[in-house]
Parts: sequence; C-alpha cells; structure tokens
Amino acid sequence: METKIFEKDDLEDAARLIRSGELVVFPTETVYGLGADALNSSAVKKIFVAKNRPQDNPLIVHVCDIAQVEMLAHVCDDAKLLMDKFWPGPLTLILSKKDCVSFDVTAGLDTVAIRMPSNDVALKLIELARTPIAAPSANISGRPSATNFEHVFVDLNGRVSGIIKHEESLIGVESSVVDLTSKPYLLLRPGGVSLEDIQKVLPDVRLFRKEEISNKSPGMKYKHYSPRAKIFLFEDSAKDKISEFESDLKSKGFNVKVLHLSNSVECSHSLFDDFRRYDKRGVDYILINAISEKGIGLAIMNRVRKAAYKIIS
Ligand code: TXA
Ligand code: MG
Repeated sequence: METKIFEKDDLEDAARLIRSGELVVFPTETVYGLGADALNSSAVKKIFVAKNRPQDNPLIVHVCDIAQVEMLAHVCDDAKLLMDKFWPGPLTLILSKKDCVSFDVTAGLDTVAIRMPSNDVALKLIELARTPIAAPSANISGRPSATNFEHVFVDLNGRVSGIIKHEESLIGVESSVVDLTSKPYLLLRPGGVSLEDIQKVLPDVRLFRKEEISNKSPGMKYKHYSPRAKIFLFEDSAKDKISEFESDLKSKGFNVKVLHLSNSVECSHSLFDDFRRYDKRGVDYILINAISEKGIGLAIMNRVRKAAYKIIS
C-alpha cells in the first residue's frame, strides 16, 4: 500500500481518507494515533491488522466536541466534572456505550473509551472528518509508542493510507484511562493527567490493583512499550548497584546504556524516543533507576515496569 504523507495544512485530504474508510496516522499531545472512522466497522478492523493488535484490546474513540460524546455514550455527572476540568487533554474516560458504537471498537465490551485530544491538528482532523476517530497508539503492537514522525514512519509506512507529519508529541506517554462505569472508580492506566489532579475533582478514583486489571482493561495484560534491548529496572534500594552492573556487563562485551529517569515531563517526553534510539544503536542492556510514583512519575514508572526484562530490588 502506498502511504501518503500529509503536512498539517493538508488536512482536508487526510480527512477525506478517514471518511472513505482508510487509515490515517495523526499527531496528538500524548503519542501519535492510528486513526479510522469509529462508526465504520470495516475501517476499524483495518486498525487491528495494520498494527498487529490482539482482537480483544479495545480502542479509544477521539472526539472534537461534546455532541459527539453524547452520541457515543451515556455521560454521567462525574464524567462531566472530569471533562470540564481536563478536556481537551490527555484523559480518557470509560463510559457505558450507546448502540452506534460497534463491538469491533470495544472488543465486545458494553463500555467505550473516549477522549478529546488537545492537539490542534488532531481536533481539526476529527472536525473535518465529521466523525469520531478510533485510534490506538501508532506503533506495531508491543513496540514503544510513536512520539514523532520518524517512529511512525518506521513502524507503519506501507501499512496505512496516510500519515500526518507534525511535531514531536508534547507529553510522550499515553493518556490516563479512568473507568467511570462501576464503583470504585479506577484509574486503569496512569498517563498524562496525574492521579492527584484527578482526585482533586473526584476523590474516590483510585489506582487499579493488579487482579482488577485483566477483565477491566484487556489491553493492560499485554507486554508493552518494549525496546529490543533488555531493560533492568533498579528499585530504590538497589540504586547503587547500577554502576556495578554496568561495568560487569561491559566487561563481558555488551553494549550498555544507563538511562537516568527523573520525575518530569521532560523525562516522559523523551522516554519512548530513548528506547527506540538505543535499539537503533544496537544497545543490549538499558539500566534504569526507579523514581517516585507521584505526578507524572506514576505513568513513567508504569511504562518502564511493563517494558522491563528484570526488576532488581
Ligand atoms: O494517549 C492515548 O491514549 C493514545 C492516543 C493516540 O490518544 N492512545 C492510546 O491507545 O494509547 P491504545 O490503544 O494504545 O491504548 C488504549 C488503552 C488500552 O489499554 C485499552 O485496553 C484501554 O485503553 N481501553 C480501551 N477501551 C476500553 C474499555 N472499554 N474498557 C477498558 N479499557 C479500555
Ligand atoms: Mg498502545
């Protein structure tokens, strides 16, 4: 398949592709998304093929206004509170779905994930397409999410009809996913909006426990975000072991990188790019220090834990 590259002022043509049931990759403030018309089942099915996504992993539907949310889902009062505070932005809400949302989007669930991105290009594309856009992260399943055009191109050129070329994703990790369809409300995936900020609006939201996740959010059970290099994550108590491991592995001839995490948006912004750059350089081992799981630190540590080959404590 030939993949057309669009500039950000060329969105009419990209929107036309979405309307005709094709796949178009677009930028968002979190990571790039691999989009299709959310109301067209055959278009939605193409997403799973293009990125090798397991069929039981539901998609997030991206909207540009509240009317679209109301068309797709039953909006409870608590959802309105979060939408008022954090939309447009990196927060996805799980709501009870209406009939127009097919089970191809939700992987058979009665709930649907919805988010209004803040990126101008994403919003404009949805508006021009005149339909909500279903989109997972624009990477081959299991690989680190794509946060710039090059990442998208490497993974998906030839597998999608279009890619909108734009700047690097600001935040660099995916949206926070909050399930509002049963109590207690659960943060199923930490992301761009911190748990502390969500709790300022709805104090009862809490982080999922491991045993709660496999039935609530099918996607979370898969190995994710992994570079080819093996990641060793050193918990706080093991921090001083990093240089010991580094010299030992180097003395055995391995290509080793130490990645210094910090609890900051600069760190989330570059995390997936670091993983991909190290792969390009043939790194065998990445040694990473743990950081505090406050603010954006919770999302960063969630991604690193999922990508880790071994956790050393
Ligand atoms: O920032 C983001 O969220 C990016 C951009 C493109 O918007 N998208 C993204 O999509 O990360 P994806 O498909 O890589 O991750 C979606 C997550 C998965 O963990 C999936 O299981 C969960 O959302 N999810 C989707 N629908 C769900 C539902 N109905 N119930 C529970 N979890 C759901
Ligand atoms: Mg993903």
